[in-house]
Amino acid sequence: MGKLDGKVAIVTGAARGLGRGYARHLASLGAKVAVSDLNLRSYQEFEAEAHAMTGDSTVDEIRSGGGDALGFEFDIGDRDQVFAMVEDVKKQWGRVDVLVANAGGGRGKPAETTATLVPPDLLELVTRMNFYGTVHSCSAVAPHMKEQRSGRIVTVASYAGSVAGIGGGYAHYGANKAAIAHYTRYLAQELGPFGINANCIAPGVIATARIVQLVGGNAGGNKAAEDIAVRRFGTVEDCAKVIEFLVTDLSDYVTGALIPIDGGWNRAG
Ligand SMILES: NC(=O)c1ccc[n+]([C@@H]2O[C@H](COP(=O)([O-])OP(=O)(O)OC[C@H]3O[C@@H](n4cnc5c(N)ncnc54)[C@H](O)[C@@H]3O)[C@@H](O)[C@H]2O)c1
Repeated sequence: MGKLDGKVAIVTGAARGLGRGYARHLASLGAKVAVSDLNLRSYQEFEAEAHAMTGDSTVDEIRSGGGDALGFEFDIGDRDQVFAMVEDVKKQWGRVDVLVANAGGGRGKPAETTATLVPPDLLELVTRMNFYGTVHSCSAVAPHMKEQRSGRIVTVASYAGSVAGIGGGYAHYGANKAAIAHYTRYLAQELGPFGINANCIAPGVIATARIVQLVGGNAGGNKAAEDIAVRRFGTVEDCAKVIEFLVTDLSDYVTGALIPIDGGWNRAG
């Protein structure tokens, strides 16, 4: 028996990286998983991600492992498409138990994205893919979860949503992640009476292919990990285990929380 047998999960941004890890992990616990992404083959952008794939997409990987999966390819900033996906999932599988609103990320270079210099087009793009995408996803699953009187929502912030990096670059990304964390507290207040828990994770440096390309990996004692208490970057599994905690009965009395997954990276607040 899997802990999530009979449950239906939606993971956004699940074609590669952390989202792919969450989708596969939830499937390994028995959930049927809807995999959504702007591009279901986005792993092709990074050699290491492509190398790790055991199928043509996360959907294929789950299916070939004996699980149930559906694939949806659209922009998470498009509210109508988000609602259409959730309707489709409900139609095919009859319920929606878990949402991991993972789609997102930063765009642009740190030097060009300080608080007052961030170009309006980048501000708009990053807000659309992070904050708006999260609000649309939560808004689309909530009516179904309310009707069921149960559900688990996990949103995704970042270390950058709590701490402004030295130099102030990536202000648009950090501000979006802070907004997601605070939105989640409101979400928990609204949904708690319906038996729905909503929590937010704040990953630190997690060694997905995109991040390894930027800052290097764990091999050979990376100097960049010296500010992290456990002296290493995180792994996809480190985050997937916290997701498991947040979507199973281990966390029945946890809601509205912001949970850092950062190895004790020295943080303010
Ligand atoms: N990796 C880290 O160190 C780290 C740290 C803090 C927070 N995060 C957050 O975790 C999440 C996943 O990070 P990752 O490292 O796996 O990123 P990633 O870039 O490797 O994967 C993100 C996925 O989201 C998809 N995506 C991007 N824009 C989209 C859109 N508009 N609509 C639908 N899908 C879209 C991409 O195609 C990609 O498959 C992001 O929200 C990111 O901000 C990651």
